[in-house]
Amino acid sequence: MSEVGGPRADLPTAFAPLLIDWQRRAGRSGMPWQNSRDPYRVWLSEVMLQQTQVSTVLGYYARFLERFPDVEALAAAEADEVMSLWGGLGYYSRARNLHRCAQMVVEQHGGRFPSTSAGLETLPGIGASTAAAIASFCFGERVSIVDGNVRRVLTRLLAFEGDLAQTKPQRELWEMAQALLPIEPSADDMTAYTQGLMDLGATVCTRSRPACGQCPMQGICQGYQVGEPQRFPVKTRSLKRRHESWWLLVVRLTEGPERFWLQRRPASGIWAGLYCPPVFESELAAHAGLPSAWVKRLVALDAVSHSLTHRELRLHPLLLELTSEPLPGEWPAGQWVDAERLVQHGLPAPVKLLLQALRAPDLFARP
Ligand code: ADE
Repeated sequence: MSEVGGPRADLPTAFAPLLIDWQRRAGRSGMPWQNSRDPYRVWLSEVMLQQTQVSTVLGYYARFLERFPDVEALAAAEADEVMSLWGGLGYYSRARNLHRCAQMVVEQHGGRFPSTSAGLETLPGIGASTAAAIASFCFGERVSIVDGNVRRVLTRLLAFEGDLAQTKPQRELWEMAQALLPIEPSADDMTAYTQGLMDLGATVCTRSRPACGQCPMQGICQGYQVGEPQRFPVKTRSLKRRHESWWLLVVRLTEGPERFWLQRRPASGIWAGLYCPPVFESELAAHAGLPSAWVKRLVALDAVSHSLTHRELRLHPLLLELTSEPLPGEWPAGQWVDAERLVQHGLPAPVKLLLQALRAPDLFARP
């Protein structure tokens, strides 16, 4: 027995075989991107799974593959169509990078993804961990993923005290992750190992209330032995979201085919490239360009909250229903979009919900 909290000589060599064996017995199987070594399919799933849970990704993954069965089809698509198919998954820079990445693979790599993690990392939207996932799943490369889940698993396993808000401990943890890899693994071993890291973090070594009783690492886990696995990972800087309020001027044409006035968001920043009603920083600013008779017709709808990575948005929709009146001179730039064709436009998830609710109020009525 080693001392509690002290070094354990057998931990580095014991970890990988335990993990591979556990993954094959008890890990997740049957997800549609598993059992494929096609880098296109694996890449698509990994990008979708970067910030989104498996249950949400399933439908999007199937629709993307149906519409874009290979990297050439995706590269040739219009950006708007890609954004529209992505609508609702959030973190839209992923969709823009996905499209650019497909174009680079076709134009600069003859339609074949690079076969190493280092090569994959040169492509847009593929960071170190995603590159490692693709290279280990598709090419059996002996390289470790280190995403948020894996950081949690490894810092608990090692009772790693380094502050992951700092770059030096981050690098040290990555080096330890590399040191824990299986020795001379087959490609199948690498697949089970990488999937095992993901599965352990997602299903056993969870953020709150980890299921240590069911963990294959209980006998070697230093965090468990010191009695406080949940103390890890150590991270001093916690993400603080800034609160912001936006007023959305939702203009609907009620005569003739139903239409909404939407703006394309700028190419960078929040909801970049998506379609949205004009946004204002205050209610007064939303009123400023409107004739006073129209201001009186504005209906303030219920506000909704929407969390982004660094922002907590409070959205205040102001509904203005017009028949066929001409727009005043100082009108926010934009275009009329047929309500029937909204789905063909990339819409931020809360905007999509809002417009759907306006179109079918009974479906969305509160009890
Ligand atoms: N999260 C990131 N990649 C994943 C994968 N391949 N399977 C399940 N969850 C994941």
